[in-house]
Amino acid sequence: MEFPQDPDRQVGRGAAGVRAAHRSAGFRHHRRDREGALSEAVARSLDLLAERAGDPAPLVYRRLFEAFPEMEAQFVRDTTGAVRGEMLAVAFQCVLDLDGGYAANLIRSERVNHEGFGVPPEAFASFFPIVMETTRAVVGEDWTAEMEAGWRALLARLEGLVRAA
Ligand code: HEM
Repeated sequence: MEFPQDPDRQVGRGAAGVRAAHRSAGFRHHRRDREGALSEAVARSLDLLAERAGDPAPLVYRRLFEAFPEMEAQFVRDTTGAVRGEMLAVAFQCVLDLDGGYAANLIRSERVNHEGFGVPPEAFASFFPIVMETTRAVVGEDWTAEMEAGWRALLARLEGLVRAA
């Protein structure tokens, strides 16, 4: 079915307007593709981590306590490792859903909770780089430039979220 107004509207917009719209749509697509490729690379790195490490929690927390020995005592009540496991699962969720609103809300509330039980915001923020370093070590020679770039971009955004929280 034909809608007689449609051709008029097209003409009315003018070629320059259409070109500008295409240009900006093209630009947006380009950005989305690039960002999409980087988040996919991050997600792929976490798949490889799960595949190769099984439960990555012991590796992550070993690295965390090597970097910040004073933090080990924070977990004395976590005799089964359940809290550490849950905390890591939540950190993965943040990494994989940074745009969904989940990460921003969670980081805002957990930053305050953690400060309450003695984890200052700078220390809180350090957990994500530890997760990245663990992932990179496990992925080894399959670590790609896109994984590196994706993680770098992500860490910068997470740090911004912690600072703004
Ligand atoms: C090096 C940084 C961090 C340290 C030392 C730390 C420490 C802790 C400790 C000691 C607990 C247990 C609290 C309790 O006794 O109830 C905990 C719980 C938790 N942390 Fe962290 N945290 C850090 C970073 C993070 C980050 C970045 C997130 C967010 C992604 C996070 C999310 C959580 C959650 C959700 C829990 C509750 C888990 C549960 O009880 O089921 N933590 N954290």
